[in-house]
Amino acid sequence: MHEIIEQLDRKREQARLGGGRKRIEAQHKKGKLSARERIELLLDPGTFEEWDMFKEHRCTDFGMAESKIPGDGVVIGYGTINGRMVFVFSQDFTVFGGALSEAHAEKICKVMDHAMKVGAPVIGLNDSGGARIQEGVASLGGYADVFQRNAMASGVIPQISLIMGPCAGGAVYSPAMTDFIFMVKDTSYMFVTGPEVVKTVTHEEVTAEELGGAVTHTSKSGVADLAFENDVDALLMLRRFFNYLPLNNKEKPPLRPSPDPADRLDYSLDTLVPDNPNKPYDIKELIIKSVDDCDFFELQPDHAKNIVIGFARMEGQTVGIVANQPMVLAGCLDIKSSIKAARFVRFCDAYNIPIVTFVDVPGFMPGTAQEYGGIIKHGAKLLYAYAECTVPKITVITRKAYGGAYDVMASKHLRGDVNFAWPSAEIAVMGPKGAVEIIFREEKSDKALLAEREAEYKAKFANPFVAGARGFIDDVIQPHETRKRICRSLVMLRNKSITNPWRKHGNIPL
Ligand code: HXC
Repeated sequence: MHEIIEQLDRKREQARLGGGRKRIEAQHKKGKLSARERIELLLDPGTFEEWDMFKEHRCTDFGMAESKIPGDGVVIGYGTINGRMVFVFSQDFTVFGGALSEAHAEKICKVMDHAMKVGAPVIGLNDSGGARIQEGVASLGGYADVFQRNAMASGVIPQISLIMGPCAGGAVYSPAMTDFIFMVKDTSYMFVTGPEVVKTVTHEEVTAEELGGAVTHTSKSGVADLAFENDVDALLMLRRFFNYLPLNNKEKPPLRPSPDPADRLDYSLDTLVPDNPNKPYDIKELIIKSVDDCDFFELQPDHAKNIVIGFARMEGQTVGIVANQPMVLAGCLDIKSSIKAARFVRFCDAYNIPIVTFVDVPGFMPGTAQEYGGIIKHGAKLLYAYAECTVPKITVITRKAYGGAYDVMASKHLRGDVNFAWPSAEIAVMGPKGAVEIIFREEKSDKALLAEREAEYKAKFANPFVAGARGFIDDVIQPHETRKRICRSLVMLRNKSITNPWRKHGNIPL
């Protein structure tokens, strides 16, 4: 008996080494942690329960029968983050470059199936060269099995991907189907095909970093939500991020009471909006001053900066924040910002997270680039997302809410529950100058008359009271009481319950 127990210990020790000490050292030299070290940092100490430590691949081609490593390049199991259940898989680059075999895929599917049974999120720590080339179609089948589960879990349990190494081919498509993607700067890449293939096919010379590094995906492509400096930073931030989320779509996010009073007034907000309507100001100041402890977890801060999204808490309750940013493109809605916000709104709606929308939007971005790029369809994504959404929706218009963009940004007409406006709000089809130039085209040459018409239009429409008179705005509020009014509204809406008509699924304009 003693010997059998010792044998188990030896087998475990061997499995823990993955591809061996030398390869682990190589991983460390690149500034990367090993698959197991990552799990240790991510989960609460001592809570990791591992499965399939001894699972091996079944490939016999290309000399693979002689090259079996227990665990087959992925560590799976479950544990807790701040006491809350989570399932994890962590790919081990020291074993065949973390490439996915049939057995490796079965392990990932196992945690996903369990996560669905018990209703807990899945976190994938990705570090993989894609489909294991030696296995051919078996590994492609394995990927598809994972993709199928990603799709079924979408909207049921939160799925988060942390990209921690070079991820190519199939290794990027599973993360792409998850809710959030985080990357590590300088050591992680995502591309469908690497720089060598790109060179052969398109004759472009591009580095891995330029093609699919963390900066590329958090600024240019918008594929990733955030980039962190190193593995440790990324894992610790992921622990923080996890606290905002519910475990599944039937639960509410955890309450985290804060000493920050719900009725805190902030008089500095009374001067946030400049007198000159064309002067920008930073909408993040309003966000930070409105939420608990000024703590805002922003997502995609470097992509489509004309809209700001992220999580915060109000009276301890998680809220999703969506805000136009007047500092960038005057806060216009364009293709990228519409897609960015639409996906976020849908996540919040799927997971019972109320949405607070701060509006200062002069409209949709004009121009051929936008029209040819399909702004009509992409802008409609945000419209659709807000219209479909049934979680509590609170809207605060700080300044401009012009045209279609007024409708889109959680207006009363899209079932906004509580719609506030600051006294500086201008709710109209368009700005005064543009409006008179169209309505009084005939009088264009008479500058003095036009100025008079503009002043007239401004006095009539550039305020929140016309919308207020129709009940499209529930109240015009003082900027300094914004937090208090939102908090009260959220409490009132705590038991909100509305449902959409039965259907197999809607057809969001993709
Ligand atoms: C088998 C692989 C592998 C793979 C890497 N390795 N990728 N083994 N299948 N897909 C092995 C290497 O042979 C090497 O083994 C070890 O992992 C480390 O790889 P290196 O190349 O030395 O590391 P590095 O220089 O850091 O480069 C990492 C990499 C590169 C960028 C990921 O290995 C690479 O380009 N791999 C191939 C990527 C790829 O084309 N994958 C298939 C995509 S198709 P040794 O023993 O020599 O150390 C796909 C289809 C699914 O995924 C599509 C579904 C939609």
